[in-house]
Amino acid sequence: MKITITNDERAFDCTAAWRIIGEILSKPDCVIGLSTGRTTGNLHRIVGEIYSHYPFDASKVTFVGLDEVVNVPREYVGACYTMLKTELIDTLLIKEENFLMLPTISDNFDRDCIAFKEEIDRRGGIDLLILGLGENGHLGFNQPHSPWGHEVWITDMNPELEERIRRETLTPVEKELRGATLGLKSIMNARKIVLVAKGYNKAGIVKQMLESPVIAGVPASILQLHPNCEFLLDSASASELS
Ligand code: GLP
Repeated sequence: MKITITNDERAFDCTAAWRIIGEILSKPDCVIGLSTGRTTGNLHRIVGEIYSHYPFDASKVTFVGLDEVVNVPREYVGACYTMLKTELIDTLLIKEENFLMLPTISDNFDRDCIAFKEEIDRRGGIDLLILGLGENGHLGFNQPHSPWGHEVWITDMNPELEERIRRETLTPVEKELRGATLGLKSIMNARKIVLVAKGYNKAGIVKQMLESPVIAGVPASILQLHPNCEFLLDSASASELS
Protein backbone atom coordinates (compact mmCIF):
# COMPACT_ATOMS: atom_id res chain seq x y z
CA MET A 1 0.00 0.00 0.00
CA LYS A 2 1.21 3.47 -0.80
CA ILE A 3 0.23 6.09 1.78
CA THR A 4 0.98 9.78 1.23
CA ILE A 5 0.41 12.17 4.13
CA THR A 6 0.56 15.90 3.47
CA ASN A 7 1.30 18.54 6.10
CA ASP A 8 -1.78 20.63 5.46
CA GLU A 9 -4.91 20.95 3.40
CA ARG A 10 -3.37 23.12 0.68
CA ALA A 11 -0.60 20.58 0.07
CA PHE A 12 -3.25 17.84 0.02
CA ASP A 13 -5.34 19.65 -2.61
CA CYS A 14 -2.31 20.45 -4.78
CA THR A 15 -0.92 16.90 -4.58
CA ALA A 16 -4.29 15.46 -5.62
CA ALA A 17 -4.63 18.02 -8.42
CA TRP A 18 -1.25 17.02 -9.80
CA ARG A 19 -2.26 13.34 -9.82
CA ILE A 20 -5.00 14.30 -12.29
CA ILE A 21 -2.81 16.59 -14.40
CA GLY A 22 0.04 14.06 -14.39
CA GLU A 23 -2.28 11.40 -15.77
CA ILE A 24 -3.48 13.72 -18.54
CA LEU A 25 0.08 14.71 -19.48
CA SER A 26 1.30 11.13 -19.64
CA LYS A 27 -1.79 9.78 -21.43
CA PRO A 28 -3.72 12.51 -23.30
CA ASP A 29 -6.64 10.19 -24.14
CA CYS A 30 -6.98 8.80 -20.63
CA VAL A 31 -10.22 8.04 -18.76
CA ILE A 32 -10.41 9.66 -15.33
CA GLY A 33 -13.07 8.96 -12.71
CA LEU A 34 -14.03 11.79 -10.33
CA SER A 35 -15.86 11.98 -7.00
CA THR A 36 -17.86 14.85 -5.60
CA GLY A 37 -18.09 16.25 -2.07
CA ARG A 38 -16.26 18.51 0.35
CA THR A 39 -12.98 16.66 -0.13
CA THR A 40 -12.69 17.03 -3.88
CA GLY A 41 -14.15 20.49 -4.66
CA ASN A 42 -10.91 22.38 -4.02
CA LEU A 43 -8.65 19.97 -5.78
CA HIS A 44 -10.86 20.18 -8.87
CA ARG A 45 -10.70 23.97 -8.76
CA ILE A 46 -6.89 23.83 -8.49
CA VAL A 47 -6.70 21.67 -11.63
CA GLY A 48 -8.81 24.36 -13.32
CA GLU A 49 -6.58 27.19 -12.02
CA ILE A 50 -3.42 25.48 -13.27
CA TYR A 51 -5.10 24.87 -16.64
CA SER A 52 -6.05 28.56 -16.89
CA HIS A 53 -2.45 29.67 -16.29
CA TYR A 54 -0.65 26.89 -18.12
CA PRO A 55 -3.10 25.27 -20.56
CA PHE A 56 -2.52 21.60 -21.32
CA ASP A 57 -4.36 19.45 -23.84
CA ALA A 58 -7.45 17.97 -22.19
CA SER A 59 -9.45 17.65 -25.40
CA LYS A 60 -9.13 13.86 -25.61
CA VAL A 61 -9.66 13.06 -21.94
CA THR A 62 -12.85 11.32 -20.84
CA PHE A 63 -14.11 12.22 -17.38
CA VAL A 64 -16.44 9.79 -15.63
CA GLY A 65 -18.58 10.61 -12.59
CA LEU A 66 -18.29 7.99 -9.85
CA ASP A 67 -21.90 8.37 -8.78
CA GLU A 68 -25.08 10.40 -9.10
CA VAL A 69 -28.18 11.27 -7.14
CA VAL A 70 -31.29 9.69 -8.63
CA ASN A 71 -34.63 11.51 -9.00
CA VAL A 72 -33.47 15.11 -8.71
CA PRO A 73 -33.05 17.57 -11.60
CA ARG A 74 -29.55 17.46 -13.10
CA GLU A 75 -29.34 21.21 -12.57
CA TYR A 76 -29.75 20.86 -8.78
CA VAL A 77 -26.54 22.20 -7.17
CA GLY A 78 -26.12 18.97 -5.22
CA ALA A 79 -26.37 16.76 -8.32
CA CYS A 80 -22.92 15.32 -9.08
CA TYR A 81 -23.30 16.36 -12.73
CA THR A 82 -23.67 20.03 -11.83
CA MET A 83 -20.96 19.92 -9.16
CA LEU A 84 -18.38 18.41 -11.49
CA LYS A 85 -19.35 20.67 -14.37
CA THR A 86 -18.97 23.77 -12.21
CA GLU A 87 -15.82 22.67 -10.42
CA LEU A 88 -13.83 21.29 -13.35
CA ILE A 89 -15.49 20.15 -16.56
CA ASP A 90 -16.44 23.58 -17.89
CA THR A 91 -13.09 25.12 -16.96
CA LEU A 92 -11.21 22.45 -18.92
CA LEU A 93 -13.59 22.97 -21.87
CA ILE A 94 -14.48 19.26 -21.89
CA LYS A 95 -17.00 18.36 -24.59
CA GLU A 96 -20.29 16.91 -23.38
CA GLU A 97 -19.57 13.58 -25.14
CA ASN A 98 -16.36 13.24 -23.09
CA PHE A 99 -18.13 13.72 -19.77
CA LEU A 100 -19.87 10.48 -18.78
CA MET A 101 -22.45 10.71 -16.03
CA LEU A 102 -25.24 8.43 -14.92
CA PRO A 103 -28.60 10.14 -15.43
CA THR A 104 -30.53 11.67 -12.55
CA ILE A 105 -33.89 10.96 -14.21
CA SER A 106 -34.71 7.89 -16.30
CA ASP A 107 -37.51 5.51 -17.17
CA ASN A 108 -35.06 2.61 -17.01
CA PHE A 109 -32.09 2.94 -14.68
CA ASP A 110 -31.07 -0.71 -15.09
CA ARG A 111 -30.61 -0.18 -18.82
CA ASP A 112 -28.68 3.06 -18.17
CA CYS A 113 -26.36 1.37 -15.68
CA ILE A 114 -25.44 -1.28 -18.26
CA ALA A 115 -24.96 1.36 -20.98
CA PHE A 116 -22.73 3.39 -18.66
CA LYS A 117 -20.49 0.42 -17.91
CA GLU A 118 -20.30 -0.48 -21.60
CA GLU A 119 -19.33 3.06 -22.59
CA ILE A 120 -16.52 3.08 -20.02
CA ASP A 121 -15.32 -0.28 -21.38
CA ARG A 122 -15.55 1.01 -24.97
CA ARG A 123 -13.18 3.82 -24.01
CA GLY A 124 -10.69 1.34 -22.57
CA GLY A 125 -11.68 1.38 -18.88
CA ILE A 126 -10.76 3.82 -16.12
CA ASP A 127 -7.07 4.74 -15.98
CA LEU A 128 -7.23 6.85 -12.82
CA LEU A 129 -10.04 7.00 -10.28
CA ILE A 130 -10.06 9.71 -7.62
CA LEU A 131 -12.14 8.30 -4.79
CA GLY A 132 -13.68 10.17 -1.86
CA LEU A 133 -14.38 8.37 1.40
CA GLY A 134 -17.64 8.44 3.34
CA GLU A 135 -17.51 8.79 7.12
CA ASN A 136 -19.04 5.31 7.40
CA GLY A 137 -16.52 3.90 4.93
CA HIS A 138 -18.70 4.14 1.84
CA LEU A 139 -17.24 4.54 -1.63
CA GLY A 140 -19.54 6.30 -4.09
CA PHE A 141 -22.97 5.11 -2.98
CA ASN A 142 -21.70 1.68 -1.95
CA GLN A 143 -22.81 1.70 1.66
CA PRO A 144 -21.51 -0.76 4.31
CA HIS A 145 -22.38 -4.38 3.38
CA SER A 146 -22.82 -3.59 -0.32
CA PRO A 147 -22.04 -6.65 -2.44
CA TRP A 148 -18.52 -6.76 -3.85
CA GLY A 149 -19.60 -8.14 -7.24
CA HIS A 150 -21.69 -5.20 -8.55
CA GLU A 151 -20.56 -3.16 -11.53
CA VAL A 152 -22.88 -0.14 -11.97
CA TRP A 153 -26.05 -0.15 -9.88
CA ILE A 154 -28.73 1.81 -8.04
CA THR A 155 -28.60 1.74 -4.27
CA ASP A 156 -29.61 3.57 -1.10
CA MET A 157 -27.82 6.69 -0.03
CA ASN A 158 -26.73 7.49 3.50
CA PRO A 159 -29.61 8.92 5.57
CA GLU A 160 -27.88 12.27 6.38
CA LEU A 161 -27.25 12.99 2.71
CA GLU A 162 -30.77 11.91 1.76
CA GLU A 163 -32.23 14.19 4.42
CA ARG A 164 -30.19 17.17 3.15
CA ILE A 165 -31.11 16.59 -0.49
CA ARG A 166 -34.82 16.25 0.36
CA ARG A 167 -34.68 19.53 2.26
CA GLU A 168 -32.81 21.38 -0.48
CA THR A 169 -34.90 20.04 -3.37
CA LEU A 170 -38.22 19.95 -1.49
CA THR A 171 -38.56 16.29 -2.44
CA PRO A 172 -41.47 14.69 -0.53
CA VAL A 173 -40.85 11.43 1.37
CA GLU A 174 -43.16 9.53 -1.02
CA LYS A 175 -40.68 10.13 -3.83
CA GLU A 176 -37.72 7.77 -3.78
CA LEU A 177 -34.24 9.30 -3.59
CA ARG A 178 -31.45 6.86 -4.35
CA GLY A 179 -27.89 6.79 -5.60
CA ALA A 180 -26.52 5.47 -8.89
CA THR A 181 -22.92 4.39 -8.54
CA LEU A 182 -19.99 2.47 -9.87
CA GLY A 183 -20.10 -0.71 -7.80
CA LEU A 184 -17.14 -2.06 -5.88
CA LYS A 185 -16.23 -4.41 -8.73
CA SER A 186 -16.03 -1.52 -11.23
CA ILE A 187 -14.06 0.56 -8.72
CA MET A 188 -11.56 -2.24 -8.25
CA ASN A 189 -11.25 -2.55 -12.04
CA ALA A 190 -9.74 0.95 -12.30
CA ARG A 191 -6.05 0.66 -13.23
CA LYS A 192 -5.00 3.24 -10.68
CA ILE A 193 -6.89 4.64 -7.68
CA VAL A 194 -6.12 7.64 -5.48
CA LEU A 195 -8.27 7.53 -2.34
CA VAL A 196 -8.50 11.06 -0.95
CA ALA A 197 -9.48 11.85 2.64
CA LYS A 198 -8.96 14.99 4.66
CA GLY A 199 -10.06 16.38 8.02
CA TYR A 200 -10.36 15.03 11.58
CA ASN A 201 -13.89 13.78 10.86
CA LYS A 202 -12.33 11.11 8.62
CA ALA A 203 -9.58 10.02 11.05
CA GLY A 204 -11.55 7.12 12.56
CA ILE A 205 -12.68 5.66 9.27
CA VAL A 206 -9.23 6.13 7.69
CA LYS A 207 -7.80 4.01 10.50
CA GLN A 208 -10.43 1.32 9.92
CA MET A 209 -9.96 1.42 6.15
CA LEU A 210 -6.21 0.83 6.47
CA GLU A 211 -5.83 -1.14 9.68
CA SER A 212 -8.93 -3.33 9.95
CA PRO A 213 -9.19 -6.59 8.03
CA VAL A 214 -10.96 -6.31 4.66
CA ILE A 215 -14.62 -6.44 5.70
CA ALA A 216 -17.96 -5.70 4.01
CA GLY A 217 -18.91 -3.38 6.89
CA VAL A 218 -16.15 -1.01 5.73
CA PRO A 219 -16.40 -0.94 1.92
CA ALA A 220 -13.22 1.16 1.59
CA SER A 221 -11.17 -1.59 3.27
CA ILE A 222 -11.38 -3.51 -0.03
CA LEU A 223 -8.87 -1.00 -1.42
CA GLN A 224 -6.18 -2.77 0.62
CA LEU A 225 -6.43 -5.45 -2.08
CA HIS A 226 -6.02 -3.10 -5.06
CA PRO A 227 -2.61 -3.48 -6.72
CA ASN A 228 -2.19 0.23 -7.51
CA CYS A 229 -3.99 2.36 -4.94
CA GLU A 230 -2.49 5.40 -3.27
CA PHE A 231 -4.09 6.64 -0.05
CA LEU A 232 -3.66 10.41 -0.06
CA LEU A 233 -4.34 11.88 3.39
CA ASP A 234 -3.79 15.15 5.20
CA SER A 235 -2.25 15.03 8.65
CA ALA A 236 -5.69 15.40 10.31
CA SER A 237 -7.28 12.38 8.61
CA ALA A 238 -4.10 10.37 9.24
CA SER A 239 -3.94 11.35 12.93
CA GLU A 240 -5.30 8.05 14.32
CA LEU A 241 -3.09 5.72 12.28
CA SER A 242 -0.77 3.64 14.42
C1 GLP B 1 -20.83 11.24 -0.87
C2 GLP B 1 -20.55 10.91 -2.34
C3 GLP B 1 -19.23 10.24 -2.51
C4 GLP B 1 -18.18 11.02 -1.78
C5 GLP B 1 -18.41 10.94 -0.30
C6 GLP B 1 -17.47 11.80 0.53
O1 GLP B 1 -21.76 10.34 -0.34
N1 GLP B 1 -21.60 10.10 -2.89
O2 GLP B 1 -18.91 10.16 -3.88
O3 GLP B 1 -16.92 10.47 -2.08
O4 GLP B 1 -19.74 11.25 0.03
O5 GLP B 1 -17.93 13.12 0.60
P1 GLP B 1 -17.16 14.26 1.39
O6 GLP B 1 -15.89 14.47 0.68
O7 GLP B 1 -18.08 15.43 1.32
O8 GLP B 1 -16.95 13.77 2.78
